[in-house]
Amino acid sequence: MQIDTITIDPPLMLAPMAGVSNRAFRALARKQGASLCVTEMVNANALLHKSAKSYWLMELDPGETPVGIQIAGSDPEIMAAAAVEAASYGADLIDINMGCPVSKVVKNGDGSALLNDYDTAVKVVEAVVNAVKVPVTVKMRAGWDHQSITAPTLAEAFERVGAKAIGLHARTRDDQYMRPARWEYIRSVKERVSIPVIGNGDVHTPEDARRMMDETGADGVMIGRASFGDPWIFQRITHFWENGEHLLPPSALERAQMASWHVRRMVEIKGETVGIAEMRKQLAWYLKGTPGSAEYRAKCTQIKTEADAESVIAEWLHHARDESLTWS
Ligand SMILES: Cc1cc2nc3c(=O)[nH]c(=O)nc-3n(C[C@H](O)[C@H](O)[C@H](O)COP(=O)(O)O)c2cc1C
Repeated sequence: MQIDTITIDPPLMLAPMAGVSNRAFRALARKQGASLCVTEMVNANALLHKSAKSYWLMELDPGETPVGIQIAGSDPEIMAAAAVEAASYGADLIDINMGCPVSKVVKNGDGSALLNDYDTAVKVVEAVVNAVKVPVTVKMRAGWDHQSITAPTLAEAFERVGAKAIGLHARTRDDQYMRPARWEYIRSVKERVSIPVIGNGDVHTPEDARRMMDETGADGVMIGRASFGDPWIFQRITHFWENGEHLLPPSALERAQMASWHVRRMVEIKGETVGIAEMRKQLAWYLKGTPGSAEYRAKCTQIKTEADAESVIAEWLHHARDESLTWS
């Protein structure tokens, strides 16, 4: 897949996810075969007010490429200025958020609220495209609700003003994350544009990824929640695409090593207090699906230090090696 001058091969991406797709997790996903990663959403207003959080959300690893920085907002001028700042931080592309369903985002007219505001949405994309030299992409939901599926019409307009790819999360704002994704919306967008369309929503297995491409004509696949505690998913999908065979799931030792690396990197990046706090839920994901793991996952909610995390991992590994491992 080609996004303007950027080659995304294989066409497999890590979805932008607040609280998850930070530098540490992006590095893991990339190493396992995610060809493009995107940062957590950066609020354009906060960025222009020089909020420290916005800057650390935009920090990239040396040599991390291709990578997108995602910005959210609905004021074309502010979004353009934020895009310039994000591009200066080394983003290979700027991704615009038109999918966030969270009430406090939507009430400002940002995120998925833009799906209901054609004029502003198009102005935002146009302003960002005109402000930066790097390609601009839009990640959107299908519409506000199933009675207003606006993504196909919007995508067409976004292409006209210069967007270079569309990421389509095949749910509406109204669906939140509850209802199943409806991939037919990806096809509807694909039929209306000639820029690449990246399908997203409910891809859990290599077969799902194949089926999404086949059924919708999507040019690429974006994985969100299925990568939680399982960055190997990218490798499994790529292997399946290339060989038609399944890789074995990672062993307990590999999972423990991956979790441990993740913990260490989070502490390096964010310091022990914040790094470990943010790691609690993520560590639990690595330990999911193994017999008797509930006890260890419960312990993850209590960890305060890197040593606490390492000791839960070691205890879990000891236990898991005595069990036959299966993925849930
Ligand atoms: C914890 C979490 C945080 C998310 N944060 C963002 C975000 O910052 N920007 C964005 O465009 N989408 C965000 N999303 C949506 C995902 O990118 C993706 O569209 C959604 O999870 C559907 O894909 P999936 O079914 O593969 O998980 C988030 C989703 C989750 C679960």
